[in-house]
Amino acid sequence: MLQDEQKALVAKEAVNCLLQQHPPYSILGIGTGSTVNLFIEALAPHATKFKGVISSSQASTDRLLQKGFTVLDANEVDSLDVYIDGADEINPEGVMLKGGGGALTREKIVASMAKRFICICDSSKQVMMLGKFPLPIEVIPLASQKVASYLEKLGGVVSLRKSKEDPSKNFITDNSGWILDVAGLKITDPKALETELNQIPGVICNGIFAQQKATQLIVSNPAGVEIIAF
Ligand code: A5P
Repeated sequence: MLQDEQKALVAKEAVNCLLQQHPPYSILGIGTGSTVNLFIEALAPHATKFKGVISSSQASTDRLLQKGFTVLDANEVDSLDVYIDGADEINPEGVMLKGGGGALTREKIVASMAKRFICICDSSKQVMMLGKFPLPIEVIPLASQKVASYLEKLGGVVSLRKSKEDPSKNFITDNSGWILDVAGLKITDPKALETELNQIPGVICNGIFAQQKATQLIVSNPAGVEIIAF
C-alpha cells in the first residue's frame, strides 16, 4: 500500500472512532498537514454534527470553512474533549516531533486545550528515538541568529526555513515568525529538551510535543490499521 493510501485509511478510521466515541455537538481541535487534510475530507459529511472546531492553522481553517465546518475562535472555548493531528515522528511513549508544516505553535496551543490527543499517521512516522526529522523551532525573526548559535552549541545543524513558493524568501508562519530546522540533535530526554528550548529568549515554540503528547495513536501500515493507547 502506498503512503498516501495509508494516510487515507488512517483518516477514515479516525472518523469512525470519533463518531463512535465522541458525543455529538461537541467541539473538536483540528491539526494541520496532509493526513489531517484527508481526515477533514472524510469528516466533512458529518460537519454539522459538531458544534464547531478550533483550527491550528490558516490552511486548515480555509479547508474547514470550505467543507462546511463552523470554525470557532480559541478564546471562545474553555476546553476541548479531543484534538486530532498528524506528526512528523512519534516514539513508543506517544511523544511527538511536529512542525514540518510550520504550524507547531498553534498546534501546541490547541492541543493544550484538549483532554485527549489522537495522533493519526502512517507507520513511517513511528521511531524509537526522536530527531532524525530535523526539529522545527519557531522564532521571533529578530532573535533567529542568537537562537541558532545556542542550538549549534547543543550540536545542532541549523537551517532557516525558506518559502516553498519562493526560496529566495524566508518561510513565514501564521504568527509572523520564522522557522529554524535543526538536524543532528540527540533527543534522549524529550521533555527536558522541550523545556530547555522554551527558555531561550526569542523562541516562540519548539516542535517537541512531550508535555502535549498523544494519548492515542491511530496508525496505518501496509497490513492495516492499529490503535495504540498511551
Ligand atoms: C504541521 O506543522 C505538522 O506538525 C504536521 O502535523 C506534521 O508535519 C504531519 O504532517 P503530514 O500529515 O503531512 O505528514
